[in-house]
Amino acid sequence: MGWGDLGVYGEPSRETPNLDRVAAEGMLFPSFYSANPLCSPSRAALLTGRLPIRNGFYTTNAHAKNAYTPQEIVGGIPDSEHLLPELLREAGYASKIVGKWHLGHRPQFHPLRHGFDEWFGSPNCHFGPYDNKARPNIPVYRDWEMVGRYYEEFPINRETGEANLTQIYLQEALDFIKKQQAKARPFFLYWAIDATHAPVYASKPFLGTSQRGQYGDAMREIDDSVGRLLGLLRGLGIAERTFVFFTSDNGAALVSAPQHAGSNGPFLCGKQTTFEGGVREPALAWWPGHIPAGQVSHQLGSLMDLFTTSLALAGLKPPSNWTIDGLDLLPALLQGKLMDRPVFYYRGDTLMAVTLGQHKAHFWTWTNSWEEFRKGVDFCPGQNVSGVTTHTLEEHTKLPLIFHLGRDPGERFPLNFASTEYQEALGRIGPAVQQHQETLVPGEPQLNVCDPAVMNWAPPGCEKLGKCLKPALSAPEKCSWPH
Ligand SMILES: *[C@@H]1O[C@H](CO)[C@@H](O)[C@H](O)[C@H]1NC(C)=O
Ligand SMILES: *[C@@H]1O[C@H](CO)[C@@H](O)[C@H](O)[C@H]1NC(C)=O
Repeated sequence: MGWGDLGVYGEPSRETPNLDRVAAEGMLFPSFYSANPLCSPSRAALLTGRLPIRNGFYTTNAHAKNAYTPQEIVGGIPDSEHLLPELLREAGYASKIVGKWHLGHRPQFHPLRHGFDEWFGSPNCHFGPYDNKARPNIPVYRDWEMVGRYYEEFPINRETGEANLTQIYLQEALDFIKKQQAKARPFFLYWAIDATHAPVYASKPFLGTSQRGQYGDAMREIDDSVGRLLGLLRGLGIAERTFVFFTSDNGAALVSAPQHAGSNGPFLCGKQTTFEGGVREPALAWWPGHIPAGQVSHQLGSLMDLFTTSLALAGLKPPSNWTIDGLDLLPALLQGKLMDRPVFYYRGDTLMAVTLGQHKAHFWTWTNSWEEFRKGVDFCPGQNVSGVTTHTLEEHTKLPLIFHLGRDPGERFPLNFASTEYQEALGRIGPAVQQHQETLVPGEPQLNVCDPAVMNWAPPGCEKLGKCLKPALSAPEKCSWPH
């Protein structure tokens, strides 16, 4: 989902009344960032409070390449990481993930091995359908066991875009909340729906109802579901005791435009890039009676802050001697304070850019290779900023390109190198980067090795469904990521 996909963020069709109401009753962050322009690393960062370069969700196979967890990935979330649900358990929280996990699919990476009490969803995205020979269809799990596969027990009609998954995920979430409430147990629900990921889908009542096409149908169903979730919290009388945050793991994937892609508003490019469109997210916080209604916070926020903020809400602290990149946002949420902090933009193992205050410095620029681009893969359709949206990986480490994001949110007008503003901005950003790089201890890279034999051929539960498949013969190899 992109920054520009919500009515309250200026989407012209105004089709998100429930999310707009969340903003009216809570706080909107115009400058909130995912931890990465890609799904898996961003989600690993959300749940660990740490940059992907620290928690291992990157590749060293090729400079500045984005990597994630396809079915044949060998790595996943290391045991040494402390995940949010694992820590919340100490304060008595029950935790459930509904939807996409994306932190590794092999048994040692299972969400229930990393702090969640319940799971309904899938380890990967809903790509497919596959032939179950070279590549299996993605399994859907309930807790430890597979209960079916996408395109089989969980149909997604690629022609009409019809699928009932958002409704199923909604019901799972509603049931979980009711169950915890009946036990008076505090809960953490990670509602990781993926209907806006291509191929986008919606259930029948929403299909064809948006002015924006299929992507808008998916948005409308998500919006409606958010309304129903918050309605349940109100109905149960726990709205004032429940902190809700809505955001996304990367900008809209413009590569799927126009039918299957959202909007990144005024920002440059989309998913996969470290331009604002790849990482700046819609972000809404809601906690009636605590967060004053209708506020806008100019705090620079990060997905990783949700880790630290959630711990603070539960009266917990991050483990000591452990580097956390997330900030506790409660001073911003409750008292309207602003905290100075850098935002680091990585692609794989490469620090591409940094924002501090209103200034963003690019040390490297790249969209994708000419080779990919000529094949029609475009991360910035209709946008070409000369010397900025480059198709070769351009180094600017000595003299970064600096933009003022307030005056120039679209990153179109780099500051003049000779200007006082440039010199002053560089004078502040330089030391922040130096400090970050000098103290950085990169994690063991998890996204380097692929092996078709580790794909989910026969997950636990497959025998009950008669759906155990035979792995393709293969040997581990370096994962090859697109250029
Ligand atoms: C969605 O659920 C409805 C009602 O149960 C059913 O008629 C329809 O076939 C389902 N659609 C898909 C794509 O699973
Ligand atoms: C973008 O514009 C520059 C300068 O006009 C040009 O050299 C370059 O080929 C353009 N790139 C694309 C992808 O069109």
